[in-house]
Amino acid sequence: MESSIKDIEYYLPENILSNDKLSREFPEWSAEKIEQKLGIRERRIAGENETALDLGQKACEKLIRKYPKEQIDFLLFCTESPDYFIPPNAPLLQDRLCLRTDIGAFDFNLACSGYVYGLSIAKGLIAADISKSVLLVTAETYSKHIHPKDKSNKTMFGDAAAATLICDTEKSGIGNFALGTDGTGYDKLIVHNGGFRNPYDPNAELIEYIEGSYRTNNNLYMNGPEIFNFTIKAVPIVVEQCLERNNVTIDEIDYVIFHQANKYMIEYLRKKTKIPQEKFHIDMLMTGNTVSCTIPIALRNSIDNKVIKSGDRVLIVGFGVGYSWGATIITIN
Ligand SMILES: CC(C)(COP(=O)(O)OP(=O)(O)OC[C@H]1O[C@@H](n2cnc3c(N)ncnc32)[C@H](O)[C@@H]1OP(=O)(O)O)[C@@H](O)C(=O)NCCC(=O)NCCS
Repeated sequence: MESSIKDIEYYLPENILSNDKLSREFPEWSAEKIEQKLGIRERRIAGENETALDLGQKACEKLIRKYPKEQIDFLLFCTESPDYFIPPNAPLLQDRLCLRTDIGAFDFNLACSGYVYGLSIAKGLIAADISKSVLLVTAETYSKHIHPKDKSNKTMFGDAAAATLICDTEKSGIGNFALGTDGTGYDKLIVHNGGFRNPYDPNAELIEYIEGSYRTNNNLYMNGPEIFNFTIKAVPIVVEQCLERNNVTIDEIDYVIFHQANKYMIEYLRKKTKIPQEKFHIDMLMTGNTVSCTIPIALRNSIDNKVIKSGDRVLIVGFGVGYSWGATIITIN
């Protein structure tokens, strides 16, 4: 059985964090400088009592308004900001959405590669006749992991959720996958404390980890230059592998959506992979890097703006935390 993306919706929290506000906090970076470097003007931040589960629920409600929810027979929830260690978010969301109880539901913990991995799981479930209609939720609130004085990460990341419905179809709309993992990079994008290896430390030391950016080991740490080096090695290879596995050349691809990490880095990657500018999507100005949500947000916006049309072949590539990366080619119906 083949599968395709039937629809995508996303939800952004109401609270806006603009570059103007950030540059008042961190005067050494002007609003223009942040936008020029990262391609980001503002990002949305979840409220104090608003979690990734809440955002995910709102994205799903927008989606299931359009479809009989009784048809959904699998729920996948991708997040690194779950409500609890135990239980996972997926059963809570099944209950909140009043989905059937005779369905499969589980969480998986991935970041910027999460959307591509989610599609690969959905495709596998449908191919194995385990499911006919998978609801894939990607939802993230990195703002809750970031230290309030962390200039570098605060300018980059935004909170969001996306809901994607993947259904069985006669014609394949999700191609073959190229996936990758290299755990040697596990500590380049990490929250050190809070798990069982290193418990949360209320007295954790404040560290100026790069000039003007502070964190403790309870917060998100990103080694930007190392992430940059990893992507320039991994992304060109996975793009090549994905094209080969789908037996196409880049000329036969209508559109390319990379994980919207930041404009500086993905423009560099575009040039390195020789993807023509007119096929390359940049869409993070008003949302920032929303981790596992950047690709579905970009897909939704490109379909709405009629940049992607029915029948277009779109190469999507996710990469980040882990390190973990992946690519596939989807056809929009
Ligand atoms: C983080 C990153 C943007 C930093 O860029 P960089 O060029 O290595 O940064 P540097 O510290 O060498 O600074 C170069 C210039 O950019 C500026 N700059 C760096 N980060 C900036 C930011 N967030 N906003 C505005 N300006 C920034 C610096 O102030 C400096 O300006 P100057 O030349 O006027 O002095 C870059 O390493 C990167 O893209 N890493 C990948 C991170 C990522 O996308 N992670 C997401 C997960 S996949």
